[in-house]
Amino acid sequence: MRIVLMGPPGAGKGTQAARLVETFGMKHLSSGDIFRAEKASGSALGKKLADIMAAGALVPDDIVVEMMAKAIGAVDEASGLMLDGFPRTVAQAEALDATLKQNSTPLDAVVVITADDNEIVGRITGRRACGTCGKGFHVKFMPSAKGDVCDACDGALTQRDDDREEVVRQRLSAYKKQTEPVIAYYRASGAKVIEVNGSQSPDAVTADMVKALRSLGS
Ligand code: AP5
Repeated sequence: MRIVLMGPPGAGKGTQAARLVETFGMKHLSSGDIFRAEKASGSALGKKLADIMAAGALVPDDIVVEMMAKAIGAVDEASGLMLDGFPRTVAQAEALDATLKQNSTPLDAVVVITADDNEIVGRITGRRACGTCGKGFHVKFMPSAKGDVCDACDGALTQRDDDREEVVRQRLSAYKKQTEPVIAYYRASGAKVIEVNGSQSPDAVTADMVKALRSLGS
């Protein structure tokens, strides 16, 4: 199965991606995670990405397309693919189409998780992640069973640099201006677009997504 996972910041893409991988076993590629890994490497490119991300703006298309093409090229085609956070502009979607066409590996669906702005701000400002294993939490909605440390590995919980409210508002604005047109692009191109209500409990969102994805092709 090859799917694109879309939705505003904080809609629950990362949370649901981890669950879908458990159910369907496809390879999960998050553009945000790839850029944060580059940032952590301390490279010149990583420093440039860090500044852009901290401002809540989008990374330029040429950089995104090159990095994502490399990451997609390294995935075994038989394992399936879930793209999370990419494409985020129409130019990126066109570049992805060209790559998939070249590999004869079309998309099965585009899944869009919806959530409203105020809910998003509450979710993102409460988000924490384990600095050791990467497991995600929310201080209120999905707290660690061990309080301030990860309940899977005892690692310290950290907050992302771009999770301050003013940056979140900027990320939301970029989503509306630059990423919502990608949904229209996919609809116009005849792709299967599935909308899932992200304003439910995480388990209810997962159930809706699994049901919709299982029904593909039937
Ligand atoms: P990226 O890392 O992709 O961030 P994002 O899209 O803004 O999404 P988030 O990771 O913030 O949220 P999410 O939807 O994964 O939510 P989560 O599951 O964590 O991108 C970061 C930056 O990189 C961008 O701003 C940009 O600069 C750059 N970038 C990345 N890709 C790019 C591209 N293609 N082009 C250009 N630039 C790019 O959930 C959020 C919180 O809510 C968590 O704490 C979670 O526990 C909680 N939660 C989740 N679901 C629920 C629920 N149902 N109920 C209650 N709480 C919930």
